[in-house]
Amino acid sequence: MKWDAQQYQKHSFVWQLGEGVVEMLAPQAGELIVDLGCGSGQLTARIAESGARVIGIDRSTEMIAQARANFPAIDFRVADATDFRVDEPADAVFSNAVLHWVRDAGAAISCVASALKPGGRFALEMGGRGNTRTLLEGVREVLGRVPEVWFYPSIAEYSALLEQGGLEVRFATLFDRPTVIEGENGMDDWLKMFGGALGLSDRERGEIVRRLRGRMFRDGNWVIDYRRLRVVAVRRADG
Ligand code: BEZ
Repeated sequence: MKWDAQQYQKHSFVWQLGEGVVEMLAPQAGELIVDLGCGSGQLTARIAESGARVIGIDRSTEMIAQARANFPAIDFRVADATDFRVDEPADAVFSNAVLHWVRDAGAAISCVASALKPGGRFALEMGGRGNTRTLLEGVREVLGRVPEVWFYPSIAEYSALLEQGGLEVRFATLFDRPTVIEGENGMDDWLKMFGGALGLSDRERGEIVRRLRGRMFRDGNWVIDYRRLRVVAVRRADG
């Protein structure tokens, strides 16, 4: 999917709500940290404020161009989450709101494990089991099916994949985080920005918005039923 990086930056809730994931990462001065799926770089810069060296990776050339323009001092690289390498083992890999786009989770976890030092940590947040359920009901009603675009695993599913990949889960939680998208056009904007991969026509998008209004539009804003999976896992010394 091709991203419009300037439009993406209008959806600042993505990195504002990701601040808690940076706290969970607890970056330290002098560490080498990879931000996997860094988008336009706002959380990469936030991590760099700790004094850590950060490499931001994203598969979208448009996002990396925007990230470089936003934060010229940071090292940003174009690479896929399922096929990236770093020259030096990292202390940590961080990822916010990206891994639900990666259907080959095993390949991504294998790259993460290879990028980490033994004992290095992987701190992530992604959509978890049940994420955007109401929104997907609307998609199903209009398209008659939900295209397989996103992967929203349970704690057990993702933990099993991490363990198979040589990582040990130290912390995992799945929680509801209703997410407010401001204004009358909020759902239409969200679907245009993030729903591109669903392949909706303008008519289908309009129909989904119309159907979801009674379920998701509250006091002038749209509330999307996000459910977040947060995990901290550590690369096993023997794995
Ligand atoms: C999410 O952050 O949960 C999400 C974002 C875009 C598309 C699907 C899910």
